[in-house]
Amino acid sequence: MRFIGNKENLLDRLFYALQQHGVVGKSFFDFFAGTASVARFFKRLNYRVHSSDLLYFSYCLQYAYIKNNTEPSFEKVISTLANKSNYIINSPLDDVLAYLNQVPPVAGFIYQNYSVGGTSHLPQARMYFSDGNAQKIDAIRTQIEGWRIANLLTEAEYFILLACLIESVSFFSNVAGVYAAFQKKWDKRALRPFVLKPIELIFNSENNEVFNANSTNLVHNIDVDVLYLDPPYNERQYAPNYHLIETIARYDNPAIHGVTGMRNYNGQKSAFCNKNTAIKELDYIAKNAKYKYLLLSYNSEGIMSQAEIAQTLSKYGQVELIEFDYARFKSNNNGTSGTKKRIKELLYVCRYTIN
Ligand SMILES: C[S@@+](CC[C@H](N)C(=O)[O-])C[C@H]1O[C@@H](n2cnc3c(N)ncnc32)[C@H](O)[C@@H]1O
Repeated sequence: MRFIGNKENLLDRLFYALQQHGVVGKSFFDFFAGTASVARFFKRLNYRVHSSDLLYFSYCLQYAYIKNNTEPSFEKVISTLANKSNYIINSPLDDVLAYLNQVPPVAGFIYQNYSVGGTSHLPQARMYFSDGNAQKIDAIRTQIEGWRIANLLTEAEYFILLACLIESVSFFSNVAGVYAAFQKKWDKRALRPFVLKPIELIFNSENNEVFNANSTNLVHNIDVDVLYLDPPYNERQYAPNYHLIETIARYDNPAIHGVTGMRNYNGQKSAFCNKNTAIKELDYIAKNAKYKYLLLSYNSEGIMSQAEIAQTLSKYGQVELIEFDYARFKSNNNGTSGTKKRIKELLYVCRYTIN
């Protein structure tokens, strides 16, 4: 999905660099998981993976991609649909998604608050979704919750469906990348009829674990080979930038405010978005977690300076710095390569040496 700091396009180079520097292991903790792209990569390599993030929608993705290790059968749901379906069955997931893709529209919370039809009474109508797509998202989300309440889904099946919805939504949103603002003209992506797409499931033979937490609070329970940190680089908090995805994932009818219909995110602020607290937080993690290698992804424009980071990490181990030239995802363009800004992506490798 479109997500600031998504490392998907950097994974191969990241892994190659780690191999060159002899960083190997059997367990991996993705401490700031976001889309879980890095956790997924290491799960495929059969590492035992743990992951965590402050955002609930990230937790949904983590559960579906990282914790889940079985092909979902959707046995109970499919037994209720049997007489109604007349489509070709590919897999149980495809079967259930095909059903969800044709549920009748519902004018629910997303339509009422994030479409033009639902917000035309406001001084500025919210143009996040077309009316039809907002009602489709409401219908699908309502059906998933209805199945959960009726005990027709296993926990993994529930999160797999939510992950499909979360991943699909970003391809139909009328935003320039983040949800802190909607576009004032319709992007053609938002005018296409919404379609729920399957996610790619990954299986390995490990007992992987995922968390929806302030990762710093987990630090005393961590003992891994590779601890991967990919915190925010600047003052921009993630929660307000993805408030609408969070609300679709939680579907909790939150109190919202302002032009963009923002939910409250007081409990989801990151110390890494504040110049005064970021380096202390890094120090606390590096000091208290148990790891063989601590990896920190950061970039040359981040609020912690290169010197501060190197000084902090070198209290706990031997530090090396790997640089990547990387076209960063930028929220205020259309992703065309000509307008991407080139910045340096940095990877600090700290080999723990204190005993
Ligand atoms: C740079 S993004 C990570 C991107 C991720 N590696 C990916 O490929 O999608 C930073 C993430 O850290 C999360 N975050 C920030 N502070 C956190 C904290 N204290 N505990 C847990 N997650 C945090 C944010 O919600 C955001 O998802």
